[in-house]
Amino acid sequence: MQNLLVTGGAGFIGSNFVHYALENTNLSVTVLDKLTYAGNLESLRGLPEDRFTFVQGDICDAELVDRLVGETDVVVHYAAESHNDNSLHDPRPFLDTNIIGTYTLIEAARKHGTRFHHISTDEVYGDLELDDPERFTEQTPYNPSSPYSSTKAGSDLLVRAWVRSFGLQATLSNCSNNYGPYQHVEKFIPRQITNVIDGVRPKLYGAGENVRDWIHANDHSSAVLRIIEKGEIGQTYLIGADGEKNNKEVIELILKHMGQPADAYDQVIDRPGHDLRYAIDSTRLRTELGWEPKFSNFDQGIEDTIRWYRDNEAWWRPQKAQTEAKYKVQGQ
Ligand SMILES: NC(=O)c1ccc[n+]([C@@H]2O[C@H](COP(=O)([O-])OP(=O)(O)OC[C@H]3O[C@@H](n4cnc5c(N)ncnc54)[C@H](O)[C@@H]3O)[C@@H](O)[C@H]2O)c1
Repeated sequence: MQNLLVTGGAGFIGSNFVHYALENTNLSVTVLDKLTYAGNLESLRGLPEDRFTFVQGDICDAELVDRLVGETDVVVHYAAESHNDNSLHDPRPFLDTNIIGTYTLIEAARKHGTRFHHISTDEVYGDLELDDPERFTEQTPYNPSSPYSSTKAGSDLLVRAWVRSFGLQATLSNCSNNYGPYQHVEKFIPRQITNVIDGVRPKLYGAGENVRDWIHANDHSSAVLRIIEKGEIGQTYLIGADGEKNNKEVIELILKHMGQPADAYDQVIDRPGHDLRYAIDSTRLRTELGWEPKFSNFDQGIEDTIRWYRDNEAWWRPQKAQTEAKYKVQGQ
């Protein structure tokens, strides 16, 4: 049985991946997570004890990383500082974790000859005009806008250089916006859902025209497993499920499923440098590796996600007051 070392496995997408991998394969998983404000052990409850181990620690801790990477077959690297808004107010942790943390991991993977998969975002490509017929492909030049996306771009380039200069056995993936269970309430969809549960009107940045390309976290997980299994070393694969929606449409859908009028939201000041549109062309992943998304009914996915937040208030309630206090200071 192969062992995966999953960094950031107590975060949103990492924890969804751990559940998915343990349910759908016979792999065993070790999670390395620092448990920052974004990590939550409650997201890893109920996993099979004989196939799952949790280690609390920092990916910048070279000694710990070296030991764990030396004991594993494949590293799947999700750990990151991930919230754009935070990166605009305090960029430093983004440099530490996203750049130095990635460097620490790939040094260990190179030393031990360990297979490495690097998780990244479509935000490294910057944004598209709302009416642009183009979508991002693996050939799109990097043009990141925020401290978050620029540090992710930097981490991608480190991995590619380690492949070329040192023969690191790595693949990379850049995915569009994820939604699903276990996402921190600071993020757009869970924030709106939990606001409506609390009787608070949802908040829309600016006119709500910004377009995101949504994918269910389970589809991201199945794509990552496929790349680990069949991906070509040194290659980048874009992951997307053709889920383009503007933010206003998403809020209206949430309100519809929660029994509220379509216009029951407030507009708040826009985020500086807010990217207009992201859109992914995932042809390479589909044609070369035969991957298909299975959860591409967004209407149904949002309904299921609302149900999850209604049923799991004990999971998100401890984050809510602090998150809203932070947004209030920013006028959002
Ligand atoms: N959320 C999205 O829509 C999206 C889309 C594409 C790619 N990604 C990428 O997926 C990855 C995970 O994103 P997410 O939304 O789940 O983030 P998240 O903020 O929910 O989780 C990040 C996890 O990393 C851990 N962590 C942070 N710093 C660490 C450190 N120094 N050492 C060890 N652990 C540390 C945190 O405790 C947390 O559990 C990131 O690399 C992100 O760039 C996210």
